[in-house]
Amino acid sequence: MSLDPLANKQQAWSALFTEPMSELVQRYTASVGFDRRLWRADIDGSLAHAEMLAAQGVIGAQDLADIRRGMAQIAEEIEQGRFEWKLELEDVHLNIEARLTALVGDAGKRLHTGRSRNDQVATDVRLWLRGEIDQLAPLLAGMQRALVDLAEPHAGTVMPGFTHLQVAQPVSFGHHLLAYVEMFARDAERLADVRKRVNVLPLGAAALAGTSYPLDRERVARTLGFDAVCQNSLDAVSDRDFAIEFSAWAAITMVHVSRLAEEIVLWMSQNFGFIDLADRYCTGSSIMPQKRNPDVAELARGKSARVLGHLTGFVTLMKGQPLAYNKDNQEDKEPLFDTVDTLAATLRIMAEMVSGIVVKPEALRRAAMRGYATATDLADHLVKKGLPFRDAHEAVAHAVKVALGRGVDLSELSLAELQAIEPRIGDDAFGVLTLEGSLNARNIVGGTAPAQVLAQVARHRARLG
Ligand code: ARG
Repeated sequence: MSLDPLANKQQAWSALFTEPMSELVQRYTASVGFDRRLWRADIDGSLAHAEMLAAQGVIGAQDLADIRRGMAQIAEEIEQGRFEWKLELEDVHLNIEARLTALVGDAGKRLHTGRSRNDQVATDVRLWLRGEIDQLAPLLAGMQRALVDLAEPHAGTVMPGFTHLQVAQPVSFGHHLLAYVEMFARDAERLADVRKRVNVLPLGAAALAGTSYPLDRERVARTLGFDAVCQNSLDAVSDRDFAIEFSAWAAITMVHVSRLAEEIVLWMSQNFGFIDLADRYCTGSSIMPQKRNPDVAELARGKSARVLGHLTGFVTLMKGQPLAYNKDNQEDKEPLFDTVDTLAATLRIMAEMVSGIVVKPEALRRAAMRGYATATDLADHLVKKGLPFRDAHEAVAHAVKVALGRGVDLSELSLAELQAIEPRIGDDAFGVLTLEGSLNARNIVGGTAPAQVLAQVARHRARLG
């Protein structure tokens, strides 16, 4: 049997154990199969810790030099796929530490001074997640840019706006797209806010109570780019609310993505025919030769389900845990990794797909005409002539009924027909019955008038840089 305590794990705990861990337990408890993904954060965290231990005189300068040399080699081995991950060493932390000790001897065994895997893993996850957040933020900006780019040329493109999925009032297609930009802009703010709470250092909390070694936690925080250090050791090692919050951000963002994806699916169906998608984002059918399916949008909508599930899983994972660290927390990693991967892939592909949308303005216009979308405008016209709004509403409902009966648009009724319904309708009514007239009339901040839409485009461009 090896004398290296980590080479045979039951020995890693202490001489207290009289038999080796059962193989089943080993496999059940091991996380190295997935948490090896944290390796770089683990090495960075260890190097910062070692450098501080040396500065504080807890370990010697030679120990630090050995640890640095060993870690450099380990990083190289992992990058080149030569590192031998061992299940019996349970997790990424013990695997790296064991290899370090094999490479540099006693210095490797000194690394863990004043530290526990409990504060180590909490640090690793935060470091790793911070890096991922910094990758996701530009993707979220890219999503917004793609929508703004499509919105600008369509500031004046009329489409039916819907409530209850029934044609309601004409809106600008650009305005419709910018609604999603608002949602994603809030998601970007939320992500920046989550980052603040992720970027706090647990190291120094040790197993749960802090440590008696004279650690300089602020120094480690500075080295690793953390904004602050956790102020309660029990909290530092046990809570994963930073990951829950991130997961909530992801869930909200995916709900926004899913709504947009749903609209793209609808718009592309023959029944709407509002847009077309570039072929490279569509798939065919193995049986129906005419089919072009918006699989990417459907999958984006579908993938929101797993992200929402991970959020539910996370809060459930946390809710029954007594202080402080419990092994339950090992279950934070796979959902967190999957959430990050799903968001990264989805934001990237959705932004690309949005850039490839071909808008069909004529179809949008026809759909707006079909639904009597300017009825409210006629009612507003009557209000301006002195009718109470409720009476105007009633008169226009009659007009719509007549138009429906004849199968024509409101603007196609004659003045005589309109006046038979309500004598106060003037021939100036026809100005507001057009789709453009309706759009331009809503020239108020947040309204759908093309001038407002263009102003919003400019605001978003300035914000997005
Ligand atoms: N693999 C563990 C995790 O992910 C590391 C911390 C283990 N700590 C312990 N005391 N068993 O949570």
